[in-house]
Amino acid sequence: MELLRRLSEAAGVPGREEEIREIIKQALTGQVDELTVDRLGNLIARKSGQGPKVAVAAHMDEIGFLVSHVDEEKGFLRIEPVGGFDPRTLIAKRVVVHTRTGPLMGLIGTKPVHILTEEEKKKELKISDLFVDLGLPGDRVKELVRVGDPVTLRQDFVEVGELVSGKALDDRVGVYVGIEALRRLEAHRADVYFVGTVQEEVGLRGARTSAFAIAPEIGVALDVTIACDTPGVEAHKQVTQLGKGVAIKVKDSASISHPGLVRFLVGLAEEKKIPYQLEILPRGGTDAGGMQLAREGAAVVTLSIPTRYVHSVVEAAHKEDIRAAIDLLVAFLERCHEVDLRL
Ligand code: CO
Ligand code: ZN
Repeated sequence: MELLRRLSEAAGVPGREEEIREIIKQALTGQVDELTVDRLGNLIARKSGQGPKVAVAAHMDEIGFLVSHVDEEKGFLRIEPVGGFDPRTLIAKRVVVHTRTGPLMGLIGTKPVHILTEEEKKKELKISDLFVDLGLPGDRVKELVRVGDPVTLRQDFVEVGELVSGKALDDRVGVYVGIEALRRLEAHRADVYFVGTVQEEVGLRGARTSAFAIAPEIGVALDVTIACDTPGVEAHKQVTQLGKGVAIKVKDSASISHPGLVRFLVGLAEEKKIPYQLEILPRGGTDAGGMQLAREGAAVVTLSIPTRYVHSVVEAAHKEDIRAAIDLLVAFLERCHEVDLRL
């Protein structure tokens, strides 16, 4: 889990994934036949084989912000989100502002409840109302910070009971599953590409361009999915449950999984006694949606890691589900030359 800790605590807003890319490079050097980076910043690792061509994608980026304005006088920063935040999860948080001369710690402050008016208490919170306090005088901030500097949330990675929790498990846990599976993969006929994709959170952009270049027959996205198995949520709205295994996605709003791939994965999980659940996510998408539409199209599926509190700094996943995801991905890559893609 040390690798997952490093991935979770590292920073990488969409378009600025360099730190994550470096960690993956280190982890895969000597384990793969080719390791390249394309013009958008996707990292592409290959374990070559006769075929079929399979692309496994996990996104490197995390939701975050870019500095949009520096207050001349007092140095408070305004921020523009890159990715979908719930503003309620942002107040009273620590952030890191990544400047050209190095990282600066910052605080997302809020007015104390003591001085809030009744009207202010009822008002809906908007990201445009938030500011970052660097604890420095305005002229100093102006020297250090530029519009466009990335801002990420700051959070330690911890173990909580049977779970792991931290920021950006979406999708560093997917990256982790991909790396571990690639390291473990031995006998395979498939020509396997693992792609650490860029800019997923702003529209599956890296998945589209990398899949165009690779032209895979099969695309497998690794990502988190919603687990709403918490108080007050009815059973039919939970999507997945923690500890019940890796989720094989049937559908979300960006892709419909290839039925042949779903069938094959279910059969494989049953044969290998790997715990799994089937998933339909009403809203949201993964890199599978990008890969599916590259060139003349690919047969795609997503292996999801059920995660509570998605898009917050306490995202939490079950260790056994993570293990199940790695096991099923390895089994799939070893056997996917057998899959029947006829519809
Ligand atoms: Co996300
Ligand atoms: Zn994701």
